[in-house]
This record gives sequence, structure tokens and C-alpha cells, in this order.
Amino acid sequence: MEYRFSSRIAGLKSSAVRDILKLTQGKEMISFAGGLPAEELFPLDAVKQAADRIFQAGPRALQYGLTEGYLPLREQLCGRMADKGMRVAPDEMILTTGSQQAIDLIITVLTEPGDTILVERPTYLASLQVFALHGLKVIAAESDEFGMIPESAAELIREHKPKLMYAVPTFGNPTGRVWSLERRIKMLELCKAGGMLIIEDDPYGAIKFNANETFPTLFSLNGEAQNGCVIYTSTFSKIVAPALRTGWAIGDSRIIRMMAKAKQAADLHSSTIDQQILHQLLKGFDLEGHIAVISMEYGKRMSEMDAALRRAGGGQLRWVKPQGGMFLWMELPDGLDAETLLRCAVQKGVAFVPGSSFYGDQPQRNTARLNFTYNEASRMEQGVARLMEAIGEFTVRS
Ligand SMILES: Cc1ncc(COP(=O)(O)O)c(C=O)c1O
Repeated sequence: MEYRFSSRIAGLKSSAVRDILKLTQGKEMISFAGGLPAEELFPLDAVKQAADRIFQAGPRALQYGLTEGYLPLREQLCGRMADKGMRVAPDEMILTTGSQQAIDLIITVLTEPGDTILVERPTYLASLQVFALHGLKVIAAESDEFGMIPESAAELIREHKPKLMYAVPTFGNPTGRVWSLERRIKMLELCKAGGMLIIEDDPYGAIKFNANETFPTLFSLNGEAQNGCVIYTSTFSKIVAPALRTGWAIGDSRIIRMMAKAKQAADLHSSTIDQQILHQLLKGFDLEGHIAVISMEYGKRMSEMDAALRRAGGGQLRWVKPQGGMFLWMELPDGLDAETLLRCAVQKGVAFVPGSSFYGDQPQRNTARLNFTYNEASRMEQGVARLMEAIGEFTVRS
């Protein structure tokens, strides 16, 4: 039988790193590729105890639940959001299967194929996949260490009249950058003037290496959820564990209701077991303390990666030390294509994600994203040594 796949899926690019890792299965590999949290820091016992508590309450724990998500967890999350200056009611929130599903649902309810979306250059790979699947035209504004450049965005908005903007303003993926307050305000103004809705994706905002720094979200700067131009999404994946597959979105209740309708069609609801575990966890566990511990450890690992790169002769590479999040974004020597480098690096037992994966078009090919949260110091050091050896082969040859 000949399967006639939809043009949307047939045209979707698969991730370069997945393809390469498939070829190298079985090899001892140090991976800086995935956005993986450190497993040894997962709150395993607290999650186990939370799960025990929900099962002790009887068979009800196994029943179908609401599409919008488990209400007691939504109520707790409303409290957490209020602490960050985002005041919402439970009917202005929906729980999703990771924030990835929130992005997909927002795009489902607010766009038609052919609509245009404004993003940063570069931006989160799996959001680009969602936009491609929905047939959106992606336009990308330039960005620098202060975030999206308003002049570049303004020109694109004038020319293409996008319907939406998607952004990760705090510790972005892949760059780890934080938008300055000035840029946040400017981009809000530009989007409002252009009648655009903003999808603010914030999986990493809590993971900051200087606990005293605060970064107001676009949502909080904009004010109310009702009639607001920002729909905000975040997740438990990076601050508790990704396997619990629980994210949330907040925004105007009309958008949330539409998302719930689309979610019914997609999966009825996300796992209520996971949501109940998180509810129990938030009742008896010091999540803020846990976030402080992981942030401190990730800050240490980032410094170790930074130091290992310097020691290994990283003078020919350029990167800015991230102040939070999970990724270090690097520029390789001019003319060195990161996809070519990856093939060589994988032979030496180290993987990373070539930067080209994070561009809608015209990728800057000499860029790479390195995750610093997953590996402990000795593996980090070894991985960096392997990477530098691979880079050395190209710089010697050229
Ligand atoms: C920017 C960004 N958004 C969304 C997600 C999706 O996370 P999850 O679906 O696990 O909540 C990720 C995951 O790495 C991410 O980096």
C-alpha cells in the first residue's frame, strides 16, 4: 500500500541530532544535545510519596477528569502565578500535556494555514515544527544579547502584518538570552499597535543563577488576562520532572475555552494522575527550595562548562555566559558548519545540536547549542575535550 502522507507532515524537517544519534546507537556518548534536566536532582521520594497519597484516597484517582485540568492544581498554580505578578482565575488557565501542547493548542485555535507569525532569530525548534504543521508563514526578527531587536521586528510587522508573535523572553532556547525590560516594553507596544497576540513561552524563567534578579513577564507587564494581548505558557518539566508532562497556559477565558474545545478533540484531557501527583507535591514539598537547589547546581555546571571550554582552548569560539536556563549558545569559527562538525563530534563520542535547527530560514551555520544541566563535572570536562578535539580537526585542516 502506498501511504499518502499529508504535505504538512511530509515537509516537516526531523531533528539533525536525532538522525545522527540513530546512526551511533550503542556508542558511549556524552550528550550536550537534549534539553534534559539532571536526573539525580529529580525529587524522586517526594513524587513517590505524592503518588502514594493519591492512591490511598481510593479508585477515584483513576477516573476521567476535566479537559481544563484538575481544579485543585489550577487553584494552586493561580497562587504561584499571582506571586509572579500574573493574576488569573482558574477559568483563565488550562493544564496541558507539557507546554508543547499549549503552543499547539494556541496555534490551533488562533490561526489559519497561511497566517504569519513573528519569531526571534533563532528560536525554539519544536515551536517551529508546530508552526510548520499548521501551515504558518514564519518571519524572524533579528535578536542580540538584549532580546528581539524592535527595529527589525517593526520592519517585518509593517511588511508582513503577522497575526501573532511567539517568544521565549527569559533564558531563551537556544540562546539562553534574557530580554531587557526596555525591549519587553517596546515589543509589547509594537505588538499591540499591530493588533497581534503574543505567545509568551516561559519554561526556564524560574531557573536563574542569581536568585535576586527578577524579570517581569510580558503577561505581567500587560496587566489583566481578560482582553489581554498575551497568552503565557509554562511547565513543570524543568522545575519538577518532564515525565509528569504537565504544563499550563493562562490568558483571556475566551481563548482558554477555545483551547479546551480543541483539547477535547486532541486527547480529552491530560493525565489526571500526573496532575494529582503535582497537586499533592505542591501541598507538602518546598518547591521554591527545590528550584533554588537545582538553579544553584545548574549555575555551577554552567560555570564548569564555561571553564572547561576556556581551558580546552576555546579562544576561537564565542559565547556569552548564560545567567539561567539550560543552554549555552556558541559561535564556531567562521565557515565551520556545525552540522559537519556534529558528524565528526559524534564519532568522538560527544553530541550537541547544530544551531541551524533553530532558524526558520537562512540559518547561521556556524552556531551550536550546548546543554549544561545534564552532565556532571567529569563527564562535562570529557565531553568538552572531545568537542574541542573535533573542532581542532577542522581548524587545522582549513
Ligand atoms: C522553549 C520551550 N518551550 C516549550 C518546551 C516544551 O516543554 P514541555 O512540553 O516539556 O513542557 C520546551 C522544552 O524543552 C522549550 O525549550
